[in-house]
Amino acid sequence: MSTNKFYITTPIYYVNDKPHIGHAYTTVAADILARWQKMNDKDVFFLTGTDEHGAKVAEAAEKALKKPQEFCNEMASLYQVTWEKLNIKPSYFIRTTNPEHEKLAVAFLSRLYEKGFLYEKDYKGLYCIGCEKFLTEKELVEGKCPDHNREPEMVLEKNWFFNLKKFLPEVKEIVAEGKIEIEPDTAYQEVLGLFKQGLEDFSISRRKVGWGIKVPWDPDQTFYVWVDALLNYWTAPQIMKGKKYWPPDVHLIGKDILKFHCVYWPAMLLAYGYPPEELPNKIFVHGYFAINGQKMSKTLGNVIDPNDLVEKFGVDATRYLLVSQFPFGKDGNISQDRMKEIYNAYLVNGIGNLLRRVLKMVEKDFNGTIPTKKQENKEINCLSILALKSGKRVTTDLADFKDFISEWWVGYVKKIENLELFELLDWMSTFVSVLDMYIETHKPFQLVKVNREKAAGVLYNLLESLRHLAWMLLPFMPETADEIFEQLGLESKKEKEKQLEEAIKWGGLKSGNKIKPGKSLFPRIQ
Ligand code: MSP
Repeated sequence: MSTNKFYITTPIYYVNDKPHIGHAYTTVAADILARWQKMNDKDVFFLTGTDEHGAKVAEAAEKALKKPQEFCNEMASLYQVTWEKLNIKPSYFIRTTNPEHEKLAVAFLSRLYEKGFLYEKDYKGLYCIGCEKFLTEKELVEGKCPDHNREPEMVLEKNWFFNLKKFLPEVKEIVAEGKIEIEPDTAYQEVLGLFKQGLEDFSISRRKVGWGIKVPWDPDQTFYVWVDALLNYWTAPQIMKGKKYWPPDVHLIGKDILKFHCVYWPAMLLAYGYPPEELPNKIFVHGYFAINGQKMSKTLGNVIDPNDLVEKFGVDATRYLLVSQFPFGKDGNISQDRMKEIYNAYLVNGIGNLLRRVLKMVEKDFNGTIPTKKQENKEINCLSILALKSGKRVTTDLADFKDFISEWWVGYVKKIENLELFELLDWMSTFVSVLDMYIETHKPFQLVKVNREKAAGVLYNLLESLRHLAWMLLPFMPETADEIFEQLGLESKKEKEKQLEEAIKWGGLKSGNKIKPGKSLFPRIQ
């Protein structure tokens, strides 16, 4: 197993529905983390895909008057096209109707059967097709599933069950000891709560659902869609490149599917024969959002299509705006008005304006050439007062620009490694405000008339800081970062070949090179 590998997954999405902003939220976040790990020279395997079996998908295909496979093909390609539009670059896109996935899933489950962990039992329960899971009476509101506003169907059949109870004590211990890290703490507590509450064995097959993988030892049944789906994390790296990416480093999921990932999945892997150290390392559970304070639902007609956001804001801004709404591990709200405000304040007036302003001064007063910073002048290198003004204490002493930048990187790395993506955007916008204030304090456009050398130093500091900003933006807004590099006169492709350690050192921008001011980064939206 390579220690330099990084295996990250999103859930695979049901194809009964088109991709919506909820799917985009998780997948963009995973793409950001995958890009960050690549920047750190990790051999990244980033997996996403589509969940294509089960009653819900079969029902949607029937409604669309299509054969299930034909329907799945069309819907899966909608997901792929949407991710391409968002510049999301998975290493592999798994589809559960892929025959290779089906074959491997059967092999996995046959082993559980052979080991005696599956048994037959008559079962009676209330099944919600919308959730693709059994519900208890207590969970119903006026006899209906509250999430799907439909009556569950009474299922009465002989199914195959997985002996979950046998593995619960071990899974509990693994979770409690943090061998599988469940983050944030609220999610960890919720999982511990599930163990306390007690969990039952679950059925892994359905007799009445034809659209699924056939149970080889009981061909009247198909495997339960969730079992087939979870196995995607195990089958995909094998289909792709052999097993060297196992185990997953991070499963990124929404809180709605916590039980499946944090309890059922590790139990299945233990049953297969994996030791605790070969189970997934971390499960990060992000929050759920509402749209303008209301639950997102088709009935309410407030579902946001990520493709529409790309039309409106552009690719990079959409990526930024999705994570800019509320802290990643918490529940929150999404509003397009707020997106527009953030777009104008932080992207147009923030990053875009800063780049334009700095390049303009260099063009006007230094003939478009990156000025030489001759003097190590304390006055122009001092930043701490400015940083304090922005409301955030950056350093204790008078900081040199070099120290300022390296401190900023320390904060950046800490945040991105902890998946504090929302806080990270805030961190970067403070970086931009500090630079804006630096301009206001030193007024290089006036300074140049009285002390050209000092003005040259100020502008060099600004240009080099912009290079660092582009590196910080790279996982979030890859095209914007490229554009900043190019406008600073760097060849983006070459700049990105640098090792991160080298790239984030002070002084990467060479004096004497020509800048190449270009289009504005973010057009203003009215
Ligand atoms: N197919 C299963 C997952 C199987 S994984 C082995 C499934 N699919 S889903 O299409 O319903 O997608 C669920 C995921 O979409 C959530 O876990 C979450 O990542 C994302 N979200 C869907 N709606 C969301 C919000 N309103 N807010 C945030 N994320 C949301 O469940």
